[in-house]
Amino acid sequence: MTATEPQAAAATGAADAPRWWDEAVGYQVYIRSFADSDGDGVGDLRGIHDRLDHLAWLGVKIVWITPFYPSPMLDHGYDVADYRDIDPRFGTLDDFDALVARAHDLDLKVVIDLVPNHTSDRHEWFAKARSSRDNPHRDYYLWRDPAGDGGPPNNWKGHFGGDAWTYDENTGQYWCHLFLPEQPDLNWRNPAVAEEFDGILEFWFARGADGFRIDVAHALLKHSDLPDLPPAEAKLAEGVEGPVELPEFESLDHVYDVDQPEVTAVYRRWRGLADGHDALLLGEVYILDADRFSRYVDDDDGLHLGFWFPPLHVGWDAGELRKALTKGAAIRGVSWVQGSHDRTRAATRFGGGELGKARQLALATLMMGLPGTPFVYQGEELGLLNGEVPRERWADPIAVRAGEIGHSRDGCRTPMLWEPGPGWGFTTADDAWLPYGDRSDADTVAVQRDDPHSMLRRYRALIALRNAEPDLRGGPVTWLTHSGPILAYRRGEAIVAANAGDGLESLALPAGPWVVVFATDGKRAGEREVERARLGGQAAVVLKAVGVSST
Ligand code: NOJ
Ligand code: MG
Repeated sequence: MTATEPQAAAATGAADAPRWWDEAVGYQVYIRSFADSDGDGVGDLRGIHDRLDHLAWLGVKIVWITPFYPSPMLDHGYDVADYRDIDPRFGTLDDFDALVARAHDLDLKVVIDLVPNHTSDRHEWFAKARSSRDNPHRDYYLWRDPAGDGGPPNNWKGHFGGDAWTYDENTGQYWCHLFLPEQPDLNWRNPAVAEEFDGILEFWFARGADGFRIDVAHALLKHSDLPDLPPAEAKLAEGVEGPVELPEFESLDHVYDVDQPEVTAVYRRWRGLADGHDALLLGEVYILDADRFSRYVDDDDGLHLGFWFPPLHVGWDAGELRKALTKGAAIRGVSWVQGSHDRTRAATRFGGGELGKARQLALATLMMGLPGTPFVYQGEELGLLNGEVPRERWADPIAVRAGEIGHSRDGCRTPMLWEPGPGWGFTTADDAWLPYGDRSDADTVAVQRDDPHSMLRRYRALIALRNAEPDLRGGPVTWLTHSGPILAYRRGEAIVAANAGDGLESLALPAGPWVVVFATDGKRAGEREVERARLGGQAAVVLKAVGVSST
């Protein structure tokens, strides 16, 4: 490495001592679909507990578990009725304690999902708030008088379609909800709300949680005047394909309902709590613009990490991928993802079939060596495509509540496939809460564990390499290509390269020789490359300098 990249070095925080999440690979568990221990067809905490060995074997070090709190489940747990308990369908607080203990024995950190933007309408705070205008809890939520014509106070829309306001007959005002009407938004300008959440964070720290994934982290505060939103003009970040959400929601320019300057004060406050527990604050910062995103992940007093979502919004195109990756890599504190329980699975988005899977693995390879913390969404390690969910089985409120709008998230939420046979090792129930999709034995963990060329074994090898190779976890990044189908960067004595094109390509290498330490096709490990590295379409490699210093 030469001294010509001072900016890159600063951006990666090379001088700072790494925290545990800087070094780790994370894994998202979508609890409803991971493992069902009690035969009700819905995943649960005991189920996760019993499958933690899989995650330890895979080599990940952080497990993020989606919400398990008591909930009417209208948004599958993102409608929380009590922040300090477990929904009986998912288990008990004792089950949570047992899961944390087992995870820690396996050297896994447990990150839980915090949903602070809204509660369920069944939360006791909301029951009190809507009981009368002068109830002490009234101001926990956002209430406004009707507009002059009796309609909603402004033109805001919900992410799941429809107005962002619902009228309460009893008290004659509207409440605000950026999601379902049954998910009323909290009023984060009320200090009492902030105090409640301090207590909630401490409750889970005391039970051993190692951090929080923060739902809708960019939206907790709204403009205090709640002004009308102007219409959207093609405002997507450069290189990003839209639409990001439902068309109705996207028809407005979200300048007053999300991403308000004051929101980061919440995270400054939480840093004071989290740092005392060596705990992680990981935001779902759904902002695709790098400058605006960066405000949230200030190293001193912001979130430690934020999910960087542009890679979920690009097609399989070298130029688009390059922008999404280089912009994220220049931000300190990104968490890399290519899928989640909210987006079509990566292998499907990238073309489906073996092609889509190969592309997903190539992108995973690129993400695994960049500054930041990569997360694997459950099932990605198997190369799962979206599951087929017939219309009559749709469960996602985006599909069932927004009706004809076909943006269902169910296809990326179908159950994990542990082993061949009825229930796929997921459940002993006759049926799971969602169908499994169109699956084969080759999709299962058990079969892929035994196949040295499987996606699962490739992921495991890739994660093992990152865990073993300090150059993939620290130090500045130098991009080796700036155009063309190959995306490649050097980090210390490692080079990571992927060919986003279809044909054979080659990459000019810095002085070597170099040895292949990982290849997506799995066959070339140990081969030497001098001067040029050859890469087939959709293939990726990690190379390591042999016998030469990197300077
Ligand atoms: C983001 C979550 O990931 C999604 O599943 C949920 O519907 C919304 N936030 C609302 O909480
Ligand atoms: Mg269950």
